[in-house]
Amino acid sequence: MADNRFPLISAPLRVGAATMRNRVLMAPMSVGYAAADGRATAAMAEHYGRRAQGGVGMVITENVAVNLAGRQMPRQPMLAEPGAVAGFADVAGEIRRHGALAVMQIVHAGRYAGPWDVYEQAPRLAPSAIAFPLLPGRVVTPSEITQDGIAACVAAFANTAALAQEAGFDGVELHAAQGFLISNFLSPRMNRRADAYGGDFAGRTRLLREVLAAVRAAVRPGFIVGLHLMSDELAPDGWQLAESVRLVGQLDNAGIDFVMPVVCTFETMRMPGNDGLMGRPLFQHAQVRAIKAATRLPVFTNGGIADPELIEKILEVGEADAVGLARPLFADPDWLDKARRGTIDTVRACACETQLCLRTQLTGSLCQAWPEAARTRGFLGYAA
Ligand SMILES: Cc1cc2nc3c(=O)[nH]c(=O)nc-3n(C[C@H](O)[C@H](O)[C@H](O)COP(=O)(O)O)c2cc1C
Repeated sequence: MADNRFPLISAPLRVGAATMRNRVLMAPMSVGYAAADGRATAAMAEHYGRRAQGGVGMVITENVAVNLAGRQMPRQPMLAEPGAVAGFADVAGEIRRHGALAVMQIVHAGRYAGPWDVYEQAPRLAPSAIAFPLLPGRVVTPSEITQDGIAACVAAFANTAALAQEAGFDGVELHAAQGFLISNFLSPRMNRRADAYGGDFAGRTRLLREVLAAVRAAVRPGFIVGLHLMSDELAPDGWQLAESVRLVGQLDNAGIDFVMPVVCTFETMRMPGNDGLMGRPLFQHAQVRAIKAATRLPVFTNGGIADPELIEKILEVGEADAVGLARPLFADPDWLDKARRGTIDTVRACACETQLCLRTQLTGSLCQAWPEAARTRGFLGYAA
């Protein structure tokens, strides 16, 4: 749609060998519409296709597990076998049919892994066996992953990336944040290993670099590989922003096509000073600025940004190259279309005080801003 209201939002962006039609994207958001075995469903394809239909340049899916040991939620998608490709091809097809780039976020949930219904039986793997609060009031100790386990993980990431490519996705985004496996290795508070995967900066970033190299080798040139990077753990003994800056400075020629920095893990998000962070506007603005200054790669920002004037400003000052919206697009997939038409006042705004999307993740996320028909149906797709 041609418009001059937000010229910078509307400017295309080169990402690897592909072009995003504009600078707004759907940020990854777990909605749990997959089947119990992780296969993609028709609801999932419609959910994502509907977000692309609203006009964004790229849709990054929720985190898709690379194998069962790396899966966290009972309705979390998983792409580990060729037999699951067809369902994900429908997801990619629906996103691409509406003109957006389709990118699959891929994850091993590390110490958060173990599907919620079978916690006690599932292995919960981490760089080191350090107890942590899995849920408020529930402390668990993960198992230390062996070097063979690490190699299997690296191979699993590469396998899922190849299967995502086969399914017709334009790219994958490696999830190295939020307290999932790759970010567990980055952090000195979670990684106390004495082998080549721990210790100094080179050791703690080794898994990430191995995953990146294996994924790049498993896909065609031009397939997008993005990095969802924990920019700062926001804990005194954790992974620091200065280390992220150093890391991205080394990754310019490592086969990455974009970086999306995000602060914290689920654990550090609850620490004093970080509590309530997600409710604050522009909550990762300072970290994104520092990372943008350290790399030539496109940098995507996100978090508490739901104002088109603000997005235009972020792009104008060069703080980021594109802006991701998660909750706003979940609440109203036509957010961008409405902003560009000058009817932003008609947007069904995310009113997340009750965090309904988070509370319903185990059974399929709902939003209180949706029309009744969508809530009854269990997702907001084309019909609503
Ligand atoms: C219900 C829910 C699920 C999320 N799932 C993911 C996820 O799968 N992967 C990820 O990287 N971030 C995830 N996020 C974080 C979002 O991508 C985003 O960073 C956060 O919601 C802040 O952006 P927003 O203010 O635009 O919603 C999730 C957030 C919410 C609320």
